[in-house]
Amino acid sequence: MTTEHEKRAKELRSLIKDHNIAYYDMDNPTISDAEWDMLMRELLELEEQHPSLRTADSPTQIIGGAPSKIFAPVEHRVPMMSLDNAFETGALHQWVGRLERRLEEGAKVGDLVCELKFDGLAISVRYEEGRLVQAATRGDGVVGEDVTHNVLTIADLPEEIPDAPSVLEVRGEVYLRRSEFGKLNAEAKKNNAKEYVNPRNAAAGSLRQKDSSITAGRNLSFWAYQLGEVIEGPSLTSHYQTLEFLSSLGLPVNKNAKRVGNVDGALDYINEFQGRKDSLDYEFDGIVVKVDSLQLQTELGSTAKAPRWAIAYKLPPEEQVTTLLDIEISIGAAGSATPFARLEPVFVGGATISTATLHNQDQIIEKDVRPGDRVIVRRAGEVIPEVVRPVLSERPDGLPKWEFPPDCPACGSKLERPSGEARHRCNNYDCARQVRGRVEHFAQRTAMDIEHMGEQSVDLFVTEGLIQDVGDIYSIDFDVVRTFEGFGDLSVTNLQVAIEGSKSRPLGNLIFGLSIPHVGRTNADLLATTFGSMERLAEVTYEELQSVEGLGPVIAHSVYDFFRSPRTLLVLKKLKSAGVNFQGPEKVELAPTLAGKTIVVTGTFSNYSRDEASEAIKNREGKPTGSVSKNTDVLVAGTNPGGSKIGKAESLGIPIVDEDAFEELLSTGEVPS
Ligand code: IVH
Repeated sequence: MTTEHEKRAKELRSLIKDHNIAYYDMDNPTISDAEWDMLMRELLELEEQHPSLRTADSPTQIIGGAPSKIFAPVEHRVPMMSLDNAFETGALHQWVGRLERRLEEGAKVGDLVCELKFDGLAISVRYEEGRLVQAATRGDGVVGEDVTHNVLTIADLPEEIPDAPSVLEVRGEVYLRRSEFGKLNAEAKKNNAKEYVNPRNAAAGSLRQKDSSITAGRNLSFWAYQLGEVIEGPSLTSHYQTLEFLSSLGLPVNKNAKRVGNVDGALDYINEFQGRKDSLDYEFDGIVVKVDSLQLQTELGSTAKAPRWAIAYKLPPEEQVTTLLDIEISIGAAGSATPFARLEPVFVGGATISTATLHNQDQIIEKDVRPGDRVIVRRAGEVIPEVVRPVLSERPDGLPKWEFPPDCPACGSKLERPSGEARHRCNNYDCARQVRGRVEHFAQRTAMDIEHMGEQSVDLFVTEGLIQDVGDIYSIDFDVVRTFEGFGDLSVTNLQVAIEGSKSRPLGNLIFGLSIPHVGRTNADLLATTFGSMERLAEVTYEELQSVEGLGPVIAHSVYDFFRSPRTLLVLKKLKSAGVNFQGPEKVELAPTLAGKTIVVTGTFSNYSRDEASEAIKNREGKPTGSVSKNTDVLVAGTNPGGSKIGKAESLGIPIVDEDAFEELLSTGEVPS
């Protein structure tokens, strides 16, 4: 073993200890949970590889933070343990494998229960003869802090439980709802007081107040999820029964707890809740998977720190800290100038990101982010990455404020911010970035869907002067293209076929593809169905546009102006002579076969995209929704359907149909038997 390992382990121990003090004692963390996890994992791995580095006071051996001196100490009769973590789904299979190897030959762990891992702070609440007599934080797992007076202010927790066993210790999580957190910080902002970083720290800070009237004003909440010491309680055999028992006593038990069967069931559960992280009024940062049988829990026992029968699957962090290298401006298809952050690459929300949007000038002023800052970046689900705020404590001295650049970075013309608008724009229609943007926009899948016409080709064709506007796509000189590197016969033919194929796209796609400012996909379709042809649209009056139900004055103006521009007319001429479809869809009246029916679609189909399937349902006056509930009439399942939707529909007795039956459903409104 080298001294380098020793040095690093020492450094990690001291870093983690400092961060633990900031987190547990000051309720004011200086790094993100994900960064803390990373340090801890590195230390755990080092200690595993070199066991002699494992000191007794290593943070890997100690649970949480040491109890503070402000509150009286409370000894936990049953220790309050921590949980081992899993960061990849593969680790769950390994975990079950490990458990089964510990059990008697051939024995299985049986049912698993999944729960959300609430992001608050663990607490133990003791009832004696049905009265709440003591509440304590976890502390170091053996000794916690007495916070009884503060816990008594939590409305979720009954002061008396008449039917409780003579001694009942309830374990669970004190947390702050997002809505309450929002209110608390809004209030703090108004009073120029310090805002809390997140609901977890606000909950911890609120609970650990000397003055319980402050806690009372914070509206804390509680979820019960375990039992501690129980005397004269019922004989329970499973964890799920424990939850039911807690709930029967009037304690708040989260409704999302579920018996999931085996690891695959747990993975389905994880998949489902990963996507719902932002839809609940409380935060959770993972899924806790627990062995259901209490008998097996006892057999499996615990390590010094954590029970073996439970594991916390950590969801990929949605927030990370990184360095803001620079703020640059991107120029969109319609000339909008959007500032974005160039970042030191960082892994967040399941992907590595190196850029993130900053939206507009006002947002940058409000957030006061400056190149050179350490910043918190966020990427939740499919949402585009965003810079949340700078870490002010790490700002280098004298870092200058960022100013919006006066000129377009691509063509050098003045950037202007029209009054009443949040965005700057480059008004030079011939700006190379705008041309490129318009061509890319035109060729994209949801517009004219020209395959093989990706960013790189477009960039090349524009730079080489082959394309000045989208009309030129149909008269590209392929003899020139063939001379470019990477354009062999096959790729040229592919591109020609793709361009030819795009001529017959629906009118809505073409209108959308023209990059008319403010006209998105939906309004493009609306214009296509309302006016029926491109020729007609090009000559409609402003009044006609404004009277279209669903079009506001801004869009009406924009469309009207667009078709008055000589450049537009030139593009239309090129498109028309190339034979691009200018005709709108035939208006077909479809029978309202699905009126009043709520239908959920899952999986993939051969004849419909998911959007088209929803559209087909709407066209027949049905209501497509995203999740199965007792109000669902039919679940339409294509290939690879979502397991949880199928399971839910089955348990609720809702008919499930395949793609063929879906066609029949659309035309008759009847579920084929
Ligand atoms: S069970 C002995 N269930 O996670 C195991 N813990 O890292 C007891 N937590 O200190 C914990 N949600 O603060 C359990 N549904 C849940 C949880 C949960 C959040 C927290 C708890 C605990 C920490 C362990």
